[in-house]
Amino acid sequence: MRSEPIVRALHEAHPGATSKALARAGSYEKLWSRVRGTRVLDLACGDRPMPGAIGIDLVRERGIAVQGRVQQLPFADGAFDAALCHLAFMLFDDIEQVVAELHRVLAPGATFHALLGGGPVADGEDAFHAFVRAMPKAEAMGDPRSKREAGWRELFAGWSEPRFERWELDLTGSFEDVWLFLGASYSLRDAERVRRDVRAAFPVDPVPCRVACFYATVTR
Ligand SMILES: C[S@@+](CC[C@H](N)C(=O)[O-])C[C@H]1O[C@@H](n2cnc3c(N)ncnc32)[C@H](O)[C@@H]1O
Repeated sequence: MRSEPIVRALHEAHPGATSKALARAGSYEKLWSRVRGTRVLDLACGDRPMPGAIGIDLVRERGIAVQGRVQQLPFADGAFDAALCHLAFMLFDDIEQVVAELHRVLAPGATFHALLGGGPVADGEDAFHAFVRAMPKAEAMGDPRSKREAGWRELFAGWSEPRFERWELDLTGSFEDVWLFLGASYSLRDAERVRRDVRAAFPVDPVPCRVACFYATVTR
C-alpha cells in the first residue's frame, strides 16, 4: 500500500497533528540533543523543524523551510553533516530511494539519527493496547525494513553498523490529551466507536499511555 496519499491527506486536513500529539513527550528535543553538526537536515519535519536545521516536508506547514519529497531531495551532494528524522522514516514509500538520497546529500562521516515508532509497550495494559484492540485491522504502512535493525543493515549496507536503542515515551494524561495522540493514527477508521471503546476501558483520568520507539543511528 502506498503511504504518501494517506499521510498527505491527514496532515493537510490537520496541520501540526504530530506536534500536537507528541510535543509533551519531549522526544523531538531528545533526538535533537543527540545530533552533532552545523549543517543539519530535518527530514519530514512537519510543522516544527529543529531550530538551526533545514527542514523539509511533503506538506507545507508553519515553520518549514523547504516543501518537497524525501525521495528527491532538492539539495547538493554532501550538503549536510548530519540528518535527523522524528517519527517519519517508517512511513516512507520507496525507502531505498530515500536512503540513496540521504547518502548523496550527507558528507562522508555524517550520521543519520531517526526515531522510529511506535507501538504499545510489551508489559502492562494502557490506552494504546485498548486502541489497538478496538481498531479495525489495517494494512501496514511503509517498508517493514525501515522499522527493524536487520532491515536497516540491509538498507544501509556500506554505511556503519546501525545502532538501535529502545526509548519509551510516556503520554499518560487526560483522556483528551491521550486521544490527541491515538486519534492522529494514519490507520484510524471508525473513529467515534474506537474513541468510545478506549474511554470505556479507561474511564478515569489520568489515562495511562506509553509508546515504545527505537532511536536508530547510522553513519555514512
Ligand atoms: C508523523 S509526521 C512527523 C512530523 C515531524 N517529524 C514531527 O515529529 O512532528 C510524518 C511527516 O512525514 C511527512 N512525510 C511523509 N512522507 C513524506 C515524503 N515522501 N517526503 C517528505 N515528507 C513526508 C508528512 O508530511 C508528515 O509531516
